[in-house]
Amino acid sequence: MTDVQTGVFQPGIFDKRFGDQVFLEYALARGVAEADVREALSAVLALGGDDVLITLAFGPQLWAMLGGRFDFPPFSLEGQVPATQGDLLVWVQTPDRSHGFDAALAVHRALGDRFSTQLDINAFVYHDMRDLTGFVDGIGNPEGAQARKAALVAEGHPGAGGSFVLTQKWIHDLDAFDALSVPEQERVIGRTKADAVEFSDEDMPADAHVGRTDVARDGVPQKIWRRGVPYGNTTEHGSYFVAFSCELDRFDYLLRRMYGMIEDGVRDRLTTFSSPVMSSWWYAPTTTFLKSLSSPE
Ligand code: HEM
Repeated sequence: MTDVQTGVFQPGIFDKRFGDQVFLEYALARGVAEADVREALSAVLALGGDDVLITLAFGPQLWAMLGGRFDFPPFSLEGQVPATQGDLLVWVQTPDRSHGFDAALAVHRALGDRFSTQLDINAFVYHDMRDLTGFVDGIGNPEGAQARKAALVAEGHPGAGGSFVLTQKWIHDLDAFDALSVPEQERVIGRTKADAVEFSDEDMPADAHVGRTDVARDGVPQKIWRRGVPYGNTTEHGSYFVAFSCELDRFDYLLRRMYGMIEDGVRDRLTTFSSPVMSSWWYAPTTTFLKSLSSPE
């Protein structure tokens, strides 16, 4: 049986029980031996438990070091957005802030001086899964088997059973967004604000976010599994975008549509009100692979 059939994807990808979320992005320190890296990662994994979901994903360099059987390039969107490719992503999900802080600090200590922090962001599920703009975020996600099909690499492809991950720290200009009338805000997103009803094809503005991203390519709907969450305080806030895909290229295609780099050249109006300041993509391997870190073949 393959990993896809046995379902050994990392459970945190689909488990939506917990509202407190910490995202840690790290760069591998120079000259660290592979054995030390494996030991550190195994120690991090051991911190997971019933109330602590830990999901790991690797940038291209670390994936190659760990013997990954396929290559992928570092994040780039031809300079349209800041590319800050990291080596290690640790996503910590817990029921509350106290557990979240404890677990994140324990992760940080387990990694020690083998990795240096690029980003440490505390994010949270806001109201009924809304973005800070007030719009429900994630409602257009596929469900059940369709979600797994969108998120997990299919059998027979390199990395089967794992998942490609895109992470981006976006900073919102909420003053500008909130200054719009609600009907105008809805035209930016392409759904209604109160109850998240999607606009019909006729009513969907060409530059609405849903219009840019609800799309098929050569007849294949470009569905991804999104888990983005808000973060921030009064002076800096936005969305930590996180999504899982069966194909790396799906992220590139969707971002190119958002930035008007292909096809009709229309730019997503959401990018007027929010800007990515960090972007990386990663590969999240199966739990089978992660277990092998402590006992290499
Ligand atoms: C500031 C960053 C972003 C915010 C606040 C945001 C917010 C939203 C909201 C409110 C929706 C409509 C509700 C829903 O369908 O869940 C949505 C849909 C969607 N977004 Fe985003 N989004 C962001 C960035 C992105 C990026 C970078 C991508 C792709 C790389 C993306 C892909 C999608 C997709 C695929 C949908 C669903 C379209 C559909 O099939 O209906 N979003 N987003």
